Amino acid sequence: MRMVDLIEKKRDGKELTTEEIKFIIEGYTEGSIPDYQISALTMAIFFQDMSEKERADLTMSMVESGDQIDLSEIKGIKVDKHSTGGVGDTTTLVLGPLVAAVGVPVAKMSGRGLGHTGGTIDKLEAVSGFHVEIENKQFIDLVNKNKLAVIGQSGNLTPADKKLYSLRDVTATVNSIPLIASSIMSKKIAAGADAIVLDVKTGAGAFMKTLEDSKALAKAMVNIGNNVGRKTMAVISDMSQPLGFAIGNALEVKEAIDTLRGEGPEDLTELCLTLGSHMVFLAEKASSLEEARSLLQKAIGDGTALEAFKVFLQSQGGDSSIVDTPEKLPQASYKFELEAKQDGYVSEIIADAIGTAAMWLGAGRATKESEIDLAVGLELRKKIGDFVTKGESLVTIHSNSENIEQVKEKLYESMKLSTEKVEVPTLIHGEITE
Ligand code: URA
Ligand code: CA
Repeated sequence: MRMVDLIEKKRDGKELTTEEIKFIIEGYTEGSIPDYQISALTMAIFFQDMSEKERADLTMSMVESGDQIDLSEIKGIKVDKHSTGGVGDTTTLVLGPLVAAVGVPVAKMSGRGLGHTGGTIDKLEAVSGFHVEIENKQFIDLVNKNKLAVIGQSGNLTPADKKLYSLRDVTATVNSIPLIASSIMSKKIAAGADAIVLDVKTGAGAFMKTLEDSKALAKAMVNIGNNVGRKTMAVISDMSQPLGFAIGNALEVKEAIDTLRGEGPEDLTELCLTLGSHMVFLAEKASSLEEARSLLQKAIGDGTALEAFKVFLQSQGGDSSIVDTPEKLPQASYKFELEAKQDGYVSEIIADAIGTAAMWLGAGRATKESEIDLAVGLELRKKIGDFVTKGESLVTIHSNSENIEQVKEKLYESMKLSTEKVEVPTLIHGEITE
């Protein structure tokens, strides 16, 4: 097989075979196929697309390029959740304990945050003592015992995807549905999921800005999952503004606790119940989505969800007393209010810009090497559709520096006010089950 012939084949819109895709991915991973040939191929894919079969083959070749996590020792159907990324997305922190409380095993492999989106591990490390550096054996035992554990990402998970993603980044081929879908799905499958619930974000703060593109991506991922034997479904949810109120590590832990107690923000609670119902249903812990939802509501109402969070924190070295005493979480030295400059209805909260402002405060990493400040962040006081009077607070800024002029300016740019009444955006835009 010669790579140049395969590039030509794809360039001319023909379908690559399973063996050909395997040859390409193996060759690229080991270094016998150079970047420039893969660049040409990804550009050909960008224009010619891939068939459903090619997408499934590409995904599985990437899965096989590195370690695959064996979760077979864990009893029950392991359901993973993946979000295509958002700002202040606290759902993972809530969903883990919530579905675990209903008996769904959650074996979560997580990463750290980069740029304006936060990582689950960073958030959990706001809890004193909590750590994810545990052995595989302990990880599996903890899931069997408590239904929930989190481990750091294996260094050698889907190395083909790592190389390909960096290359796509500099060759203008990130934005290709078959390439995005196979990239995301390969990581979930290599991490050992039996079933996958996808939260595909849509709107100004999302990777996919239009509903049409978000649906196309969701369908592509659902098809791949189901074609390779993993039950997969997707919820399309709104990211035209940040989810919940809190953006920042300790602040989001506090928000997750509130939500597990039944006192969380409405949008975050609703999204968790929606995603959680699908997880419980796919794990076969309920025979309908309605039953799944009522099990979750019961776990919130009777305190078992909160208890599951405590047990989970403690089992990985964390100080679980923060659940009842959240003031023990890292606190910033200063709190400033961003005061509205006029009366009006909040019409826009640009999630990317809010995320950037939080990163400037120190809540996120500008580069992989940056240190983050777990205490700092933002608390939205208003969401789209709310009325605000001049001088009222739009955002509380939690900062460890008094010099926040730049942050304030960014926040003013990211929150638009209108004199006319504004509709509250729809939270759930659709579900794709195939
Ligand atoms: N996220 C991924 O993991 N892969 C992509 O290709 C795009 C977003
Ligand atoms: Ca939030």
